[in-house]
Amino acid sequence: MKNLENKVAIVTGGNSGIGYAAAAELVAKGAKVIITGRNKEALAKAETELNVTGIVSDQSDLKSIDSLVEQVKAQFGKVDILFLNAGIASFAPVESASEEHYDSIMNVNVKGVYFTVQKVLPILNDGGSIIFNTSINAHVGMPNSSVYASSKAAVLSLNKVFATELAPRKIRVNAVSPGPVETPLYGKLGLQKEEVEGFGAILGEKILLKRFGQSSEIAKTVGFLASDDASFITGTEIVVDGGLTVNAVV
Ligand SMILES: NC(=O)c1ccc[n+]([C@@H]2O[C@H](COP(=O)([O-])OP(=O)(O)OC[C@H]3O[C@@H](n4cnc5c(N)ncnc54)[C@H](OP(=O)(O)O)[C@@H]3O)[C@@H](O)[C@H]2O)c1
Repeated sequence: MKNLENKVAIVTGGNSGIGYAAAAELVAKGAKVIITGRNKEALAKAETELNVTGIVSDQSDLKSIDSLVEQVKAQFGKVDILFLNAGIASFAPVESASEEHYDSIMNVNVKGVYFTVQKVLPILNDGGSIIFNTSINAHVGMPNSSVYASSKAAVLSLNKVFATELAPRKIRVNAVSPGPVETPLYGKLGLQKEEVEGFGAILGEKILLKRFGQSSEIAKTVGFLASDDASFITGTEIVVDGGLTVNAVV
């Protein structure tokens, strides 16, 4: 259903994976979509494939976020939907996690997300929708995930606080928390192919629906939260994990 006609949406990290699928879904629903990312070539490819506007922007750099907002304002005026999807993942045990590991994840996944919201707010229409891409890692104690998991837990906290702060402007704020989804992210973890496959096999068994999710399945949830179909939903989180986190121990 084309229920996002006349809406303008920003999807951060829209040149790959879940963000790419979300941009496609929002376009299919009638929205004009701006995607961001650092990789210029991947952005240009997505622009052509999806009929969206790509803007190079590094979420860990506040000046780059300022420039993004200026460009969006100049080209589109105001926006209605902000999907904070851009994020990175890497894993390390607490004994050996470096400061660089900590800062790189926190700078993109928390600081960048926080200041993107702050800087987009002046051009976000009242009645708009903010959606965070968090993760089920925020809820479980997966070994070696401490920094990544806590980055997503921090965003779930922002989700609740911003929902209350922005309610006077009728801006709804929600989060989607995916379980394992097949995206290029797994190739960026610095793991060997066999390790990724082993990890996938274990997870595949634990997921009630016995498979990884598809980016399009997260995108559908984003499309729902962005639209008036979710008009009375704010401050909440939709877990899209095929039942992984409710799987019983026995
Ligand atoms: N895949 C999963 O199983 C899963 C599960 C739960 C949550 N998530 C979350 O879903 C989100 C998307 O991940 P994905 O799986 O779709 O991975 P992906 O294919 O690697 O996509 C990540 C996106 O974020 C962008 N990005 C990364 N760092 C950025 C930065 N500093 N500035 C701007 N853009 C940046 C990337 O573009 P550039 O590289 O061009 O910058 C890319 O478009 C992440 O927040 C991730 O934590 C994924």
